[in-house]
Amino acid sequence: MIFAFSKMFKFILLLCFGMIWATNGEISNVVIDLSHWNNVNFTKAKADGIVAVVHKATQGARGVDETYATRRILAENEGLLWGAYHFGTKGTPVKQADHFLATVGDTKGVLLMLDVEENKGKEMSPSEAEEFVKRIKEKTGRYPIIYGNRYFLRPYHLENLNECPLWISHYTSASQPTLPSQRSSWTLWQYTDGKLGGSPKTVNGIGPCDRDRYNGSIQQLKNRWPNL
Ligand SMILES: *[C@@H]1O[C@H](CO)[C@@H](O)[C@H](O)[C@H]1NC(C)=O
Ligand SMILES: *[C@@H]1O[C@H](CO)[C@@H](O)[C@H](O)[C@H]1NC(C)=O
Repeated sequence: MIFAFSKMFKFILLLCFGMIWATNGEISNVVIDLSHWNNVNFTKAKADGIVAVVHKATQGARGVDETYATRRILAENEGLLWGAYHFGTKGTPVKQADHFLATVGDTKGVLLMLDVEENKGKEMSPSEAEEFVKRIKEKTGRYPIIYGNRYFLRPYHLENLNECPLWISHYTSASQPTLPSQRSSWTLWQYTDGKLGGSPKTVNGIGPCDRDRYNGSIQQLKNRWPNL
């Protein structure tokens, strides 16, 4: 009887720890996103703990961030994980996807992200974003991650868009971001733009910049990159 009780007790104890462990997944903070507006020294950023950099590559059907190509080489020489993002605009989604992929270069190992946000009436619509991500999937075999805030992303609730991992933008020092209602989990969370939101807000070698938490440990980030 005592034996059975202690076994049962052990079982319950393990169950409790298991539940705590399962609900408190690790969150890491080693990702930044950049554009030509930032000055960078990747050696210093890496020494400050940064593991992954996602950089602006393109905007619309023609725009190119002129710092993208050289920074990809610099970052990869430092052994940083690399990602590329496209700022979506109104019209020509398939052309925009092809322009993005042509600018990214070899997509192997590169995280791909679609940035949708307000753009003075020239934003990429939900149906255009749907076409964009379908094209990326067709060309690369994977969906890009979709980035935006919860208000803007609310109507981006279509079949293929819902397959894209979520990169939520929410500048807050709260322990979790608020999501658009169609989503129940996030993969990356831009918690600061370097001014508003949680801390830390700066990175050595860059200064104040967009910083992003990952829903997982650093090891999981490395293992799952670029698909997450
Ligand atoms: C970047 O920082 C490293 C380490 O402090 C330094 O050796 C290097 O000269 C810097 N690179 C540039 C381009 O300033
Ligand atoms: C974090 O990711 C796990 C899967 O790895 C998921 O089950 C969980 O819901 C996510 N948490 C949040 C807060 O999104």
